[in-house]
Amino acid sequence: MNFTPDPELPEKPEATSINSLNWTYVMDDSGLPEGGMAPVYPLGVNVLLARVGGAIYAVSGKCAHMACPLFTGRLEGYTVVCPCHDWRFDVRTGRFLDAPELGLTAYPTKFEGGKLFVSLG
Ligand code: FES
Repeated sequence: MNFTPDPELPEKPEATSINSLNWTYVMDDSGLPEGGMAPVYPLGVNVLLARVGGAIYAVSGKCAHMACPLFTGRLEGYTVVCPCHDWRFDVRTGRFLDAPELGLTAYPTKFEGGKLFVSLG
C-alpha cells in the first residue's frame, strides 16, 4: 500500500517525557503485522493498535460517533475507517478527518524487548 504522509501531522503523538509515562504491556511486537490493527485492553481500556510504516499507533478503540469497534474497520494508510458509518480517523493523532474538532484519544506507544507498550497517561 502506498501513501504519502501529511506533512502537517506529527509521525506519532508527542510524549513530553517518555520516561515519565506509565507503560502497560499490550502484546508481543510480532503479533501486529504491517498494515494491521488489533484491539488491546491495557488496564481495561479499549484501545486500537495500528502498525503503519513500521511505527505503532494507539487510539481509543471505540468510534467517536456511536462507539462501533474500530478494529473491525479498515486501515488505509494512516486512516482507520469505521465499519459502521465510514467515519475516518488519523491513527497518528486520533483526529476525525471531516471535523478536526472531533476525534479519538491518541496514546503514546513504545517497543521494548520485542514487546509493545501503551501509556494511558
Ligand atoms: S459508529 Fe463509527 S461512524 Fe458511526
